[in-house]
Amino acid sequence: ARAVPVVAIDGPSASGKGTVAARVAEALGWHCLDSGSLYRLVALAAMRAGIALDDEAGVAAIAADLPARFENGLILLAGEDVSDAIRSETCSVGASKVAVLGQVREALLDRQRDYRIGPGLVAEGRDIGSVVFPDAGVKVFLTASAESRAERRYKQLMEKGMPANIQSLLKDLQERDARDAARPVAPLVKLPDAVLLDTTERSVDEAVAFVLDLVRAGG
Ligand code: CDP
Ligand code: CDP
Repeated sequence: ARAVPVVAIDGPSASGKGTVAARVAEALGWHCLDSGSLYRLVALAAMRAGIALDDEAGVAAIAADLPARFENGLILLAGEDVSDAIRSETCSVGASKVAVLGQVREALLDRQRDYRIGPGLVAEGRDIGSVVFPDAGVKVFLTASAESRAERRYKQLMEKGMPANIQSLLKDLQERDARDAARPVAPLVKLPDAVLLDTTERSVDEAVAFVLDLVRAGG
């Protein structure tokens, strides 16, 4: 039997992965996986349990047994709605700290692969095309200038009523990108077989149309 098709969208922070992946999945009627939210949930759960974010075995135990559910567009941790809480800068930085730990990544692997259900899956993150679904038919590396990404993230947080500072957001996302790209385990890279899509000068609609064209071209 032919494997369930996957579209892998990887890229740096606030490049539009989540927005574009959700829209592409909706247009195709496919499932969608926001893998970053899993790392954010692990960081939040570890912090709440008082586990240091560099305690590999401790954080991996949390990841292996994460009481998280995705329901009606909400993200629940032990039944509590943490959809907004995991978007805080603390959780963003915490996520990129637990993401350097090999045992944590390993613990989240099967959970991510379980999302590969027919008719198809659009998954986004940092290592979707390299580690989670290396056989994805379409691989996109989504990016934009650091300044426009910081500006977009700023607007997004303001709309949610979450206070933010554009300078500290820019610094945070540059540090996080550097940590994600430099780590030895599953670093953020543009794979040779991924198509580069720079949205600095492109709208969400254009980015969505670009990815849908790749899928229809038979990726
Ligand atoms: O998931 P990721 O962190 O990569 O980014 P996102 O949360 O999907 O996108 C960050 C913000 O940028 C969202 O508010 C998008 O609507 C916006 N965006 C944009 O304005 N123009 C684009 N071409 C892509 C995203
Ligand atoms: O929305 P944004 O792009 O800022 O972050 P995210 O996709 O929610 O991911 C948060 C952090 O989780 C990233 O900075 C990475 O360190 C980590 N992550 C990862 O290592 N691998 C993934 N597949 C997804 C996220």
